[in-house]
Amino acid sequence: ARVAVLISGTGTNMAALLYAAKADSCPFEIVLVASNNPDAPGLTLAAAEGIATWAQSHKGMGRDAFDALVDAQLRAAGSDYVALAGYMRILSADFVARWEGRMLNIHPSLLPKYKGLHTHQQAIDAGDTFGGCSVHVVTAALDDGPVLAQTPVAILPGDTADSLAARVLIAEHQLYAPTLAAFVMREATPDYWLARVRELAM
Ligand code: GRF
Repeated sequence: ARVAVLISGTGTNMAALLYAAKADSCPFEIVLVASNNPDAPGLTLAAAEGIATWAQSHKGMGRDAFDALVDAQLRAAGSDYVALAGYMRILSADFVARWEGRMLNIHPSLLPKYKGLHTHQQAIDAGDTFGGCSVHVVTAALDDGPVLAQTPVAILPGDTADSLAARVLIAEHQLYAPTLAAFVMREATPDYWLARVRELAM
């Protein structure tokens, strides 16, 4: 399956997906890395790995207009799926609808807790014993779609948001690729097609 990755920053999750895709057994390949931030370091890494990249600042553009640009790039690359990886933009409803059921995101909290930003600080302030990360299907509501996989990460005494984030990032890098692989493989199983036929027959 052909996967496009959307980033805004460092792109460590993108790198983790990219390296996992090199395994012969991996059912997906990264065909494009796109960003709303032309300075995103992840773009340089993707280019050095021979992956096609596209970037344009979203500033000064309407949400729908920018998302339409991104959508055109995704389709031009022949993407089957989209993996959001540190993509710090709210997506327009049209864009989500276009890719619904084929777009995943990784979020640094144990959803449904702490949607949005500053997730680690919220967990620490709440006195939680665990933080963590979640891979979910993207729907129109922010960080709200069905959760496919999660990794709890213990919060240590004296943890700051940064120290917790660093450990959660390790878990993210280990969680995203297998979850994406299982997700794309789901569509390859007979059960999936039977379910689809039943859906269509309803
Ligand atoms: C990660 O914590 C990810 O969960 C969040 O953005 C952070 C940076 O990710 N969405 P990356 O290093 O740019 O992949």
